[in-house]
Amino acid sequence: MKRAKCLLVVSVMLNILFIFKEFVLLPRKELTDETVPDRISFNRIAQHNLEETTDDLSKLGRTEAPAWVYNSTAADRFRSELETCCNGSHNLLVTQSNTAANTTIQYDAEKKTKLQVTSEIWNKFPQKTPFRYKKYASCSVVGNSGLLKDSGCGREIDSADFVFRCNLAPIDERFVTDVGKKTNLVTINPSIVKNRYLGLKNTTLKDRFVADLSRYGSAYVWMPAFSFKMCTPRSFAVQTTLKEYKSKLSVVFGNPNFMLAMNKYWKSNGVKATRISTGLFLASAALSICGEVHLYGFWPFHVDKNNVALTEHYYDNSLPHKMHKLPDEFAKLQQLHREGILQLRTDSCS
Ligand SMILES: *[C@@H]1O[C@H](CO)[C@@H](O)[C@H](O)[C@H]1NC(C)=O
Ligand SMILES: *[C@@H]1O[C@H](CO)[C@@H](O)[C@H](O)[C@H]1NC(C)=O
Ligand SMILES: *[C@@H]1O[C@H](CO)[C@@H](O)[C@H](O)[C@H]1NC(C)=O
Ligand SMILES: *[C@@H]1O[C@H](CO)[C@@H](O)[C@H](O)[C@H]1NC(C)=O
Repeated sequence: MKRAKCLLVVSVMLNILFIFKEFVLLPRKELTDETVPDRISFNRIAQHNLEETTDDLSKLGRTEAPAWVYNSTAADRFRSELETCCNGSHNLLVTQSNTAANTTIQYDAEKKTKLQVTSEIWNKFPQKTPFRYKKYASCSVVGNSGLLKDSGCGREIDSADFVFRCNLAPIDERFVTDVGKKTNLVTINPSIVKNRYLGLKNTTLKDRFVADLSRYGSAYVWMPAFSFKMCTPRSFAVQTTLKEYKSKLSVVFGNPNFMLAMNKYWKSNGVKATRISTGLFLASAALSICGEVHLYGFWPFHVDKNNVALTEHYYDNSLPHKMHKLPDEFAKLQQLHREGILQLRTDSCS
């Protein structure tokens, strides 16, 4: 039971990490409205070619469940280190308490972009954060790797107190056995708003969007509104649309200060990427608001441990757009797993 919960939490975080990493790794000149959206995929870490993968796989230690034991001492120590650097329990989201009206917001992925917080914008923020330090005993963080296919991890994922999912990952009947359906926080990549829902520009598109999202019940919809300039109108459009339809979902915006702090933390702790992935970001976030954190579907390879080919995601095989140097993130997560700080679930659950 505890283990299952932990796994769920971890999965959510990993997904977040993947998202961030993608943002981070974008070369500056590619940051145009046309190119960024497609490139911001949540599973960037999975975008490695087979040779690299095989090479990396041979170095992998076994990380699966049987040997894993939660070490609450180590976890609490690590959590408080993260809290000291980044204050996730207060600053995970942009709120009216941590962001004053009439001040400016500095975007985390664009040094030169700032936003004046008018009262109209300020009113889009929740008064205070709904989270707090270790609020949830156990969390699952669900990454979208093809490794989840036939994993049978759905029940375990759903047994956590809080479940994070990435980029509107599907949770319909086809996948429920493997990924579960419980969702407390789901991220949306702003590129989806543009590409799949064409900017929510008319009622037909909005109807479809709201119907698609209704599957996530009353989850928090987390958006990186202040990472890149182009994220802001799309994030606001999502919030406005969901309000207009009186949806039970609540849209929350990632706090760029937290993201910058987190990025800096990992950079000084062995993750050499310019920017961490959304997956690592989510895992870090989960560590501050959850006790036991379990990650699922965090697997940056296109083959499993037996060298059997995997699809990019558990729900499709959209091809990666670009190769990136395998970051140190997966190795970091493995290390945290070995230390009992979180569980990186990479085997089936049955
Ligand atoms: C748990 O972690 C602490 C701190 O890192 C360590 O001293 C201790 O030996 C660990 N306990 C077990 C059972 O591994
Ligand atoms: C975290 O942020 C909150 C609100 O901004 C502040 O009250 C608190 O003192 C901060 N905690 C730490 C450890 O910096
Ligand atoms: C922000 O500025 C506007 C216009 O200058 C002013 O009317 C409003 O009272 C200010 N709000 C706060 C919270 O200072
Ligand atoms: C909304 O926009 C889509 C895409 O441009 C179009 O196919 C659809 O017919 C539009 N619906 C209405 C009601 O205008």
